[in-house]
Amino acid sequence: MSEPVVVAHGGAGRVAKGRLEEHVAGVATAAEAGLAVLMAGGSVLDAAQRTVEVMEADPLYNAGTGGSLTDAGTLELDASLMEGAGLRAGAICCLPPFLHPIRVARGVLDDGRHVMLAAEGAARFAEAAGFERSTEAVMVTASARERLERWREGRVGEGWAGGTVGAVVSDGRGHVAAATSTGGTVGKRVGRVGDTPIVGAGTWADDRSGACSCTGIGEAILRFALARDACERLRQTDAATCAEEAIAAFGERVAGEGGLILVAPDGSVGIARNTETMSHAVARPSGTTSGS
Ligand code: GLY
Repeated sequence: MSEPVVVAHGGAGRVAKGRLEEHVAGVATAAEAGLAVLMAGGSVLDAAQRTVEVMEADPLYNAGTGGSLTDAGTLELDASLMEGAGLRAGAICCLPPFLHPIRVARGVLDDGRHVMLAAEGAARFAEAAGFERSTEAVMVTASARERLERWREGRVGEGWAGGTVGAVVSDGRGHVAAATSTGGTVGKRVGRVGDTPIVGAGTWADDRSGACSCTGIGEAILRFALARDACERLRQTDAATCAEEAIAAFGERVAGEGGLILVAPDGSVGIARNTETMSHAVARPSGTTSGS
């Protein structure tokens, strides 16, 4: 048995130096909120969900409020979560404005009939489950509009997806879970689905290997099934090495840009990126560490 741990990321990309401290601090706050849920008796899934909820509510990140916009200037939100004991998963993609896409994904998991719901069908499911629709007027930030304008002027690469958020959790007793949420890439086509809601690509959890949440260019992550790849490596070696090796292979095989957080069922942690920054935090009862 080892210490419980919550690991969070606030997205791989290029956060400007002047904003990095605040960006990292928000991730640490989220990880500590997730840990509080775990220490109060919540499940690893509850803790992963809570961690992501905190970042969805923070307009600094590309998830929930503050999410990146499509080429039509609309919000289409993707999220998923998974628990490693029963391999249960829930996901939504192209969800119109709802404050907490990860809660809707959790609703899909708990409902159990399907794993993923899309667009208007996901929205109708959410409403039937008691979630209120929000609006773009409430959830779209000035920063998201500026990112879209820069993209329209050719000043942001289409693939830029910085600020996706995610969490992985281990209870130190063999159980793991993962959760990820995003607005997707800036200027994406309406209807585009990235890696975040795809089980095995952006999110994976299996008590027999580990849990992983990915961030970066979704098309490459999808082609490489990065989250599952990283977890499968845990059968051979330690989490820190697996994270580095998975990102190296991802870069080499599909020219992928991004990062990941990884936790083994024994609570050991791996964090790796091949981008300039990836805000992250590791919260344990003995203390929190963070970095970028
Ligand atoms: N990794 C987030 C996305 O590409 O949508």
